Amino acid sequence: MCGIVGITSNKEVTTRIVNSLKKLEYRGYDSAGIATLNDGFIKEVKCEGRVEVLEKNITSSNLQGEIAIGHVRWATHGRPSTINAHPHSSETVSVVHNGIIENSTILKKILEKKGYNFKSQTDTEVIAHLITDYLKKNNLKNTIIKVLKKLHGSFALGIIFKDYPDLIVGARRGSPLAVGYGPNENYLGSDSYALKSMTNKVSYLNDGEFCLIKDNQVEFFDTNGIKVNKKILNLSQDNQDNDKGDYKHFMAKEIDEQPTTIKNCVNEYIDKINKQINIYNFPWKINQINSIVLIGCGTAYHSCLVAKYWFEEYTSLDVSIDIASEFRYRKLKFKSDCLYVFVSQSGETADTYAALDICKKNKMKTCSIVNVIESSIARDSNLVLPIHCGPEIGVASTKAFLGQMLVLYILCLKLSFDQKIITKKIYQEKIKNLLSLSNLCKKTLLTDNKIQKASKEFIKAKGSMFLGRGYSFPIALEGALKLKELAYVHAEGYPAGEMKHGPLALIEEGMPVVVLAPRDNHYKKTISNMQEVIARGAKVLLVTNKSKDEIQSENIWEKIEVENLTEDLFPFLITVPLQKLAYYSALQNGYDIDKPRNLAKSVTVE
Ligand code: AGP
Repeated sequence: MCGIVGITSNKEVTTRIVNSLKKLEYRGYDSAGIATLNDGFIKEVKCEGRVEVLEKNITSSNLQGEIAIGHVRWATHGRPSTINAHPHSSETVSVVHNGIIENSTILKKILEKKGYNFKSQTDTEVIAHLITDYLKKNNLKNTIIKVLKKLHGSFALGIIFKDYPDLIVGARRGSPLAVGYGPNENYLGSDSYALKSMTNKVSYLNDGEFCLIKDNQVEFFDTNGIKVNKKILNLSQDNQDNDKGDYKHFMAKEIDEQPTTIKNCVNEYIDKINKQINIYNFPWKINQINSIVLIGCGTAYHSCLVAKYWFEEYTSLDVSIDIASEFRYRKLKFKSDCLYVFVSQSGETADTYAALDICKKNKMKTCSIVNVIESSIARDSNLVLPIHCGPEIGVASTKAFLGQMLVLYILCLKLSFDQKIITKKIYQEKIKNLLSLSNLCKKTLLTDNKIQKASKEFIKAKGSMFLGRGYSFPIALEGALKLKELAYVHAEGYPAGEMKHGPLALIEEGMPVVVLAPRDNHYKKTISNMQEVIARGAKVLLVTNKSKDEIQSENIWEKIEVENLTEDLFPFLITVPLQKLAYYSALQNGYDIDKPRNLAKSVTVE
């Protein structure tokens, strides 16, 4: 999704803007651009498509400058094109913007009446003209205060000015924004990841704040222009490399990294000697929590759905789950004895952040399970539980999903033991099982041939289904989501028992159906549901676990067996073949696996 980088320096900066934009590419975007001051004039270079194209255009136009703002755009208002790419500029002001200006149509009409001409179909262009207009009668600071109050919606902004040649203004409402500090230069970035190659010293803007950045000074202000003091934070140095190595795609690498990330995460939370879970900074007493709400989007939501079964089984808490984009608009009854848990790989998902914000405003207990510990969601929660899986670059979430489930499982075990629902013996057995999970996951990775073969059928089909019961149902949803987002094949995830209530009508001769049936409580019922789809012509790819008991069916098209382990941990293993199925299906079709069409890694708009 959109990304912002800005640098004000006493050296040339355009090359570094391009390099930082490249770091933001993984988020998904459709166009890119840069604006700088050249001989006292604002000069823009923009393009549709990749940052490499922008780089070539910058070289051919010989664009240089000691101050610049850059942007990668993921279209919301106006289709992807060079004209709609950011920055948007007037003669005196140039703006890059993440977010959505909801009242842009009204503002545009007012500005057009005043004689301002609009070149693009974006909501952002109004900001450039509005600032230009206010600057005619106001000083710079008052202009910013007044313009920000005029804008409805969400934004992170980076702005440069013809008449203030060393100044970048940054402003935040809803969308994250960070300031970085360097020697004789300072930076603006939509997240700290964009700035990491230049500095590890950053400050974050809070909602409603703006900042004035010069090469030797940074000042922060609240909505009314009152000066705000900021802490300078040191960014964590993750040692994980962001290269594909020998892999063709980040996704393939990230799937294969899962045994390692499970191991790292388990090591962070498990005290192997005393066989106990360490969440040192847990800020509440166990009797202060009687219910739990798990909230996320997409894959993160699916991890909440799996965890619901664990919390129901092992704790006495009332458990509910919610999709963040729905949660934020519900008429909620907040309860002070409830723990609200926000799950997000990026920690920047706008809907999840908004849900957290509502809970914060209602003074609720908040916990976030994130991968990016410097993210907005992490910074604004009472308790942060990182998933420790290292940078995830592929848009499709793979290792982060396993990490999210793992931390939710660990949190569940801790609460269960603290509530005295499970005995010390069972608690320690479960911890022991967790210690073997990484190795079992490694073995599950060795199922490539069958999945590659199966993927050929999935890409030919006009649709497919993923079925499971209990813990396997959310994994069916996740398998279907992966296939949709990567291979652009229609796929439905369903509770296997629901088929007869409608979706069975979709089954026809040769339709590929994934049935998730590890030998758990639901096994026999799921196998019966499998027979029902086979009887109607479905080609079943069965995912089960290794066992001496033969499955009583002759007509299974393909079978994948994961390692054996306790049934509550099956979700970790049966996910892996589904990730691979989506990967190989996309590969066969020659699609852009790490950047599927229309999608973004970090969804920072509503
Ligand atoms: C996963 O494959 C998806 N790309 C998407 O559903 C993602 O999980 C969702 O947008 C939430 O992102 P987050 O974990 O960064 O909040």
